[in-house]
Amino acid sequence: MRTVTVGVLGSGTVGQDVLNLIQRRESMFGDMGVRIEIAGVLVRDLGKVRHVPPGTRVTTDPAFLQECGMVIEVMGGVDRPLEMLLPYLRSGRPVITANKALLAERWDVLRDYALAGSLYYEASVMAGTPVIGPMSTVLRASTFTRLQAVLNGTCLYILGQMERGKDYADALAGAQALGYAETPPTLDVGGFDTAHKLAVLARFCADGNFPYSAVTVQGIEHITPQDIQAARAAGECIRLVAELERQEGGWRATVAPQRLPDSHPLCTAGAGRNALVYEGEECGTLVFAGGGAGGMITASAMVGDLLDWVLGFPGHVPLH
Ligand code: NDP
Ligand code: HSE
Repeated sequence: MRTVTVGVLGSGTVGQDVLNLIQRRESMFGDMGVRIEIAGVLVRDLGKVRHVPPGTRVTTDPAFLQECGMVIEVMGGVDRPLEMLLPYLRSGRPVITANKALLAERWDVLRDYALAGSLYYEASVMAGTPVIGPMSTVLRASTFTRLQAVLNGTCLYILGQMERGKDYADALAGAQALGYAETPPTLDVGGFDTAHKLAVLARFCADGNFPYSAVTVQGIEHITPQDIQAARAAGECIRLVAELERQEGGWRATVAPQRLPDSHPLCTAGAGRNALVYEGEECGTLVFAGGGAGGMITASAMVGDLLDWVLGFPGHVPLH
C-alpha cells in the first residue's frame, strides 16, 4: 500500500465535507493501492467546532505543506492562498482547488501550472456538476460558438425565494445559512463570482489566456419584488446569466440579470439547479444542469479530482 500525504487549506463548508468524503472513500483508495494520510488542515480559529473525522490534525501553522504530495485548497480569497500555493506548485507538486476567484484573477501566474496539468479545479464552476471535465476533454474537437449559463447558487436561491414572496435580505440570509454565499456576499450578488466562473470556462473554449477583466458584470442587487412579479406575470423568470459568444475581433463575455421564458433550459433546470447551455458546431447544443453550491456536492468534485490524480490523469488543461 502506497501512502499519499495530503494537506488541506481550510475547513469550512467545503473543507469539512472534503475531509469526510475522503474518509468515506477509504476503501476505494485502498482498492487502488493507496492510503490517504491527511498531514494537516489549516484554519484561522482553533476554537471553532469542526465536523471532521476524529483525529484530524487541525492547525494554524501551514508548515505541514512541506511534507504533502498534494494540497487541496478550500480557504477562499486570492492573495493568501496564492502566497501559500506558489512555492508548492513551483516545487512541481499538484493542487486541487475550488477557488474560482484565485483562478480568474491570478491566471497570469497560474496558467503555466494548469498547462502542465498540475491544477485540478472541476469544483470551481458548478461545484459537483461536471462542466470543466467535458470542456477540457471531449468538447475540444467541436468548434465552440456560444454558451449561456446560470452559475451562482446564491443568486439563484435569492431569486427563487423572491419568486415565493420573500424579501431580498431574508433570502440572502438563507443562502448564507446554507453555506452557499462567498465572503463577502457582494461577490455573489454583485455578479463577480459568476464572472470568475465565466472567465475560467472561457479558457477552455474561447481563449486559453482569457482575462477576467474582459467580462462585463452586473449583479442582482437592484432587482425588486415588482420586477420578479412582472416577469412571473409574463411567464418569465429572472436569472443572473453568464454569456460568452464570438463577436467580430474576439469574444463578448457578460454577466447580467435577464428575463427568460419559463421554457428556457436555464429556467427548466429546476429549483436550485445551476445550468449551462453549450453550443458547438459539431457537438450541437448540450445542456448541463445540477447543483452548483454546497459542501458535499463541491467535495464530490474535489475528491473526484483526487481520485483522478491518484489514477495518473493530469489536471484541467486550458487551451494552448
Ligand atoms: P468557508 O468560509 O466556509 O471556509 C473557509 C475556510 O478557510 C475556513 O475553515 C477558514 O478558517 C479557512 N481560512 C480562510 N482564510 C484563512 C487564512 N487566511 N488562514 C487560514 N485559514 C483560513 O468557505 P467555503 O468552504 O464555503 O469555500 C471555500 C472555497 O470553496 C472558496 O474558494 C469558495 O469560493 C469555494 N467554493 C465554495 C462553494 C460553496 O458552496 N460553499 C462551492 C464551490 C466552491 P476558520 O474556519 O478558522 O475561519
Ligand atoms: N458562492 C458560490 C455560489 C459558491 O453561490 O454559487 C459555489 O461556487
